Amino acid sequence: MSEASAVARFYDELAADYHLVYANWDAGMAQQGQALNSVIRARLGNAPASVLDCSCGIGTQAIALALCGHRVTGTDISSSAVRRAGREASSREVHLPVAAADMRRLPFAGHRFDVVVCADNSLPHLLTEEDVHAALAEMRRVLRPGGLLVISTRPYDEILRTRPVSTSPQLTSTPTGRTITFQLWDWHNDGERYDLEHFQLIPDGEGWRVHVRRSTYWALARQQLADSVTEAGFAAAEWEAPESSGYFQPVLTARVP
Ligand SMILES: C[S@@+](CC[C@H](N)C(=O)[O-])C[C@H]1O[C@@H](n2cnc3c(N)ncnc32)[C@H](O)[C@@H]1O
Repeated sequence: MSEASAVARFYDELAADYHLVYANWDAGMAQQGQALNSVIRARLGNAPASVLDCSCGIGTQAIALALCGHRVTGTDISSSAVRRAGREASSREVHLPVAAADMRRLPFAGHRFDVVVCADNSLPHLLTEEDVHAALAEMRRVLRPGGLLVISTRPYDEILRTRPVSTSPQLTSTPTGRTITFQLWDWHNDGERYDLEHFQLIPDGEGWRVHVRRSTYWALARQQLADSVTEAGFAAAEWEAPESSGYFQPVLTARVP
């Protein structure tokens, strides 16, 4: 199976339970939407923007940005995730066109969007320089001149210093009890990529239903990603820390000249 199909399968299988990675998905959506909306409006002004979320998943940032007044389109390599994003948007009376698409081959004409968002550690699913370049070149192609790129990743500079082997458990209250989500990480010999096992423990009567899903990430250091963005033809690539943006991850922004 190709890497892309493996990623699509990982998120297809996770789509119905993806909200359980949050203590409260709606609260997380609102908080992320507000922060990204401020990032966008600080750079492009107050008018509503035409936004492509090219790794929208089940719609966390896409729905939230639409609720902030932007015209948002959502795409993702996982067709189950985009279908759920469409349903979640409809149930909140939000207009969100969605489509399954690989960010390395976006199904849009050039210069179509004011903003491209690729949030919550989606780009690091691409494991080679060629794939990262292909995705960034596509994001640049669909952005208008002066358009804004917004990418967020885990804080990989800090992570690369300690190479942790797990994440903390996330508890989510559901009508049937508390679910637990955590990850185990196995670093490759190159010290940059890691395989993750994504565990979800869901209460099931007296016991637990356990889901384990596997994928791989490339822990791209901030300078490395900023350099790739510049190589793809963007200008003014800069990182904003969570303390300043209000977003829970470091946010990289850059402009099409
Ligand atoms: C950690 S999830 C974040 C999803 C969403 N942004 C959110 O926060 O709910 C990463 C997302 O990246 C998507 N993804 C990974 N590789 C992709 C690719 N090549 N093209 C488009 N989407 C991709 C996955 O399917 C998944 O939905």
